[in-house]
Amino acid sequence: MTSPLKVAVTGAAGQIGYSLLFRLASGALLGDRPIELRLLEITPALKSLEGVVMELDDCAFPTLAGVEIGDDPEAVFEGVNLALLVGARPRGPGMERSDLLEANGAIFTAQGKALNKVAADDVRIGVTGNPANTNALIAMTNAPDIPQERFSALTRLDHNRAISQLAAKTGAPVTDITHMTIWGNHSATQYPDLFHAEVGGRNAAEVVGDQAWIENDFIPTVAKRGAAIIEARGSSSAASAASATIDAARDWLLGSAEGDWVSMAVVSDGSYGVPEGLISSFPVTTSGGDWSIVQGLEIDDFSRSRIDASTAELAEERAAVQELGLI
Ligand code: NAD
Ligand code: LMR
Repeated sequence: MTSPLKVAVTGAAGQIGYSLLFRLASGALLGDRPIELRLLEITPALKSLEGVVMELDDCAFPTLAGVEIGDDPEAVFEGVNLALLVGARPRGPGMERSDLLEANGAIFTAQGKALNKVAADDVRIGVTGNPANTNALIAMTNAPDIPQERFSALTRLDHNRAISQLAAKTGAPVTDITHMTIWGNHSATQYPDLFHAEVGGRNAAEVVGDQAWIENDFIPTVAKRGAAIIEARGSSSAASAASATIDAARDWLLGSAEGDWVSMAVVSDGSYGVPEGLISSFPVTTSGGDWSIVQGLEIDDFSRSRIDASTAELAEERAAVQELGLI
């Protein structure tokens, strides 16, 4: 039998953790292959995390091979194959995700260093905690021995939101929507791209046939969905964020669907004019645990200006964390 995959989750006693752990443990990530959970929290949250572990026990999941918890990243990350870095403060009403840079950035310095020291050689690291792209950059920079392509930040939630909005607009089932792309930052500047997306194999922008809807409705709805949820729920998205975290990790480890692509924020090699070294969202295909940026897409002036605006924001965030001494 294949050995269990060791999966670390940080912020495991938080809201996203409460959705994520049960789905990971029940096979949503790897089907029948067992997993072992390594859960990291800050010391004051360990008691609450113990309660969550009691609940995990009570589910008697056949695919859960073990659970360890702790507040020391080096102990918790020892030998992990996948690290889902969720633990970070969420924003409240009226805040932008970048307002969290100072509060959350330092978490990713320490965790990057710990992963560098003790994670398994094949580790893959997915960052959900906000501001996700720049936190991933911080972790990556602080883990010089881990190949840069093992880090990614979550824009899959935005990707899924874009699919759902397009499905609602066109009346097509979500399964008919392919080739969706989120470009740039997981922030209000992100660019959900309908010019390469398809509905039942037809170009999505042509099917919609309404540039005003794309510009004034679709793009802002997707880009500001996180804020709309905070406004409605009083706290930030959790179950959908957990679901997207699993979608992203599953596709990364097991491969994306044949003939389609997904959105992942990964280190830029300069593709599509995105400055090298930024963690920016691209259309990617994945196979065998590796991703590659889809090449050769034509970018018109409208898309160019949107991609440039979002990557300029990422460059500003990088400068800010440089200033803070985090990278
Ligand atoms: P939460 O406040 O409910 O939980 C966060 C948990 O992280 C807390 O239990 C806290 O104790 C823990 N934590 C804080 N510092 C830690 C550290 N150094 N090590 C380990 N754990 C630590 O928040 P949440 O709703 O679960 O959201 C978590 C993060 O995910 C937030 O930053 C939120 O903005 C972000 N988020 C991202 C996306 C995305 O699409 N990328 C979507 C939703 C939420
Ligand atoms: C989201 O997109 O729902 C999360 O990033 C939470 C937030 O602050 O918007």
